[in-house]
Amino acid sequence: MKGTLVRHRAMLIGNSDGIGLAATKRLLAGGWNVVGISRSESPITDTAYRHRVADVGNPEYADLMAEPALTESLDLCIYFVGIGEILNLLYMSNEARIIDVNLTGMVRTAAAVIPPMVKRGQGHFIGVSSLADELLSAEAPSYHASKAGFSNYLGGLALALKPRGVHVTNVRFGFVDTKMAKAHIKPFMMSVEKAVDHLETCIRKKPRCYTAPNIVVPLIKFRKFMMRLSG
Ligand SMILES: NC(=O)c1ccc[n+]([C@@H]2O[C@H](COP(=O)([O-])OP(=O)(O)OC[C@H]3O[C@@H](n4cnc5c(N)ncnc54)[C@H](OP(=O)(O)O)[C@@H]3O)[C@@H](O)[C@H]2O)c1
Repeated sequence: MKGTLVRHRAMLIGNSDGIGLAATKRLLAGGWNVVGISRSESPITDTAYRHRVADVGNPEYADLMAEPALTESLDLCIYFVGIGEILNLLYMSNEARIIDVNLTGMVRTAAAVIPPMVKRGQGHFIGVSSLADELLSAEAPSYHASKAGFSNYLGGLALALKPRGVHVTNVRFGFVDTKMAKAHIKPFMMSVEKAVDHLETCIRKKPRCYTAPNIVVPLIKFRKFMMRLSG
């Protein structure tokens, strides 16, 4: 019927706070229907919004992802979930959890939402990675390793899906002003709203890989060069 508003459907995982929460508000303001998932309830009350409480690291998450009503006709899915901790060499039992939540959780989500997109020949999967993906870290090796695997996996998936009409974008952020940015020095840190501006560009242009802020890239290259020099 002429004039009927077609609401696109998005699922955002890890959206009760930080970049995910700001992106949820932006998509709702843009007329999207949004389903959100995180361990805590969402502060959002909107008729176009539904929230499900779940931990991507728990077995129940697979049951949630198996719900056709949740994963079947998505136009967009964004994986924001990310945790990190400073390495404690006397107590390392959290290391595997960080890889499980940041990387395997994303792969579980992709495995649930991408096949229906392939069947429909359309859809967009965005994963929020980090510039940490190309740096070795003595402070947070599990976080850096999870993002290295994250970026590599999405890069390969994007190549595999290109001929099928489904887009995959790996977003590599520098510091963003949320509770997660714990480093002492945070060069060129951006606001959460600026990070969401970049995400909106990705939703529109659907690049395979997107890095922001670009100004940090030479810094990362210099740091890698210095690390190689110091052996
Ligand atoms: N902030 C930065 O400087 C920065 C830089 C580069 C990349 N990133 C990446 O950007 C993404 C978003 O980070 P952020 O800065 O917005 O962090 P944040 O404010 O800590 O938000 C993380 C979100 O993930 C959810 N979450 C965490 N563990 C979860 C789990 N096991 N199951 C389900 N949901 C879970 C949290 O909600 P609950 O606690 O309610 O579950 C929260 O909504 C992360 O992947 C991060 O690695 C951040």
